[in-house]
Amino acid sequence: MTRIPPVIDTRARPLRDLRISVTDRCNFRCTYCMPAEIFGEKYEFLPRKELLTFEEIEALVRIFVGLGIEKLRISGGEPLLRHDLATLLGRLSQIEGLRDTALTTNATLLPRQAEDLRKAGLGRLTVSLDSLDEAVFRQMNGDKLSVAQVLEGIEAAEDAGFRRLKINCVVQKGVNDHTIVDLARHFRHSGHILRFIEYMDVGTRNDWDLSQVMSYDEIVEAIGSEYPLRPIAPNHVGEVARRLEYEDGAGEIGIITSVSRPFCGDCSRARLTTDGKLVTCLFGVSGTDLRGPLRDGASEDELREIISGVWRVRDDRYSEERGKATATRDRSRMEMYQLGG
Ligand code: GTP
Ligand code: 5AD
Ligand code: SF4
Ligand code: SF4
Repeated sequence: MTRIPPVIDTRARPLRDLRISVTDRCNFRCTYCMPAEIFGEKYEFLPRKELLTFEEIEALVRIFVGLGIEKLRISGGEPLLRHDLATLLGRLSQIEGLRDTALTTNATLLPRQAEDLRKAGLGRLTVSLDSLDEAVFRQMNGDKLSVAQVLEGIEAAEDAGFRRLKINCVVQKGVNDHTIVDLARHFRHSGHILRFIEYMDVGTRNDWDLSQVMSYDEIVEAIGSEYPLRPIAPNHVGEVARRLEYEDGAGEIGIITSVSRPFCGDCSRARLTTDGKLVTCLFGVSGTDLRGPLRDGASEDELREIISGVWRVRDDRYSEERGKATATRDRSRMEMYQLGG
């Protein structure tokens, strides 16, 4: 494998993590991501020919790894809706130099797929679960599937041998904030890591404003008053979640503080959209097409040059610039399900 000296951006941040959205489809209609009023029966998702093929994804990942990528996260949309995903993971997990391969899913299709994914070499799983309260959960996911189906998915993952899952809960004030202590209670002593995500102004489809954000301090106060917590050190530079552990030894939780304490300073994440665009920030307005050159027969060197050229001029730090009081809906940007979260 060709490794060249690490490519760094204008803020001296290396290219280390790659997140790939393998499909723009989802079997949920979360109000903050794919609201059902917009993503109805008639909504046209990308036609198959627009999607990167497995061969194309593999070829690009090899190039990214040559440029310094060590961590890979497969996401969507709901990635388990991509036909034969385990085959793709089998190919990707063979790539020398990749230290970590993880997948973010809503878990409902795990009972059918967890074992194959494990056998294919997938290392870690992250499951999205916003509430254990059936009514609240259904209100948030567009009334698509039940809490029980997600819990069955988690069980299937455990049975397949996945350990220390991360469970992601987006906290929206006035919607599910009153149910976060229950969620914490459920995952104490489970060995899994529950993470609360401050509600973000990603995409253009949710009516985000600051009053809907439950901040790090408020989350710590809510959970900690029932189960005392203390902060613990990050696992690595640039870790997205702040870690805390229960004082009684029941495990750890994380809080993703994109709004109250942005973490752009160490951001080493690139994103590859379902249709093959390279995007350098979750709040990116546009991306650089890699699929076109790839299909036109660009060489590895040429593709490497395009990618490193984009990274070298990267200056993104949206969360730091957001300004705590500024609602930013008027700004055009890409959607979460295109970018892989
Ligand atoms: P690992 O460290 O690989 O376990 O994962 P992670 O901590 O990056 O977590 P995950 O990929 O599950 O991301 C959790 C959530 O954090 C995402 O769904 C986003 O909502 C948010 N997030 C991840 N990366 C970024 C980022 O670069 N910027 C911002 N603002 N939010 C991010
Ligand atoms: N704010 C915070 N997190 C979000 N996610 C999707 N949209 C938002 C948002 N507006 C989360 C999903 C999933 C991960 C990929 O991103 O719930 O856990
Ligand atoms: Fe689907 Fe995840 Fe978006 Fe919900 S947040 S609609 S589960 S991609
Ligand atoms: Fe990285 Fe952009 Fe998120 Fe900042 S806002 S951490 S630059 S993806």
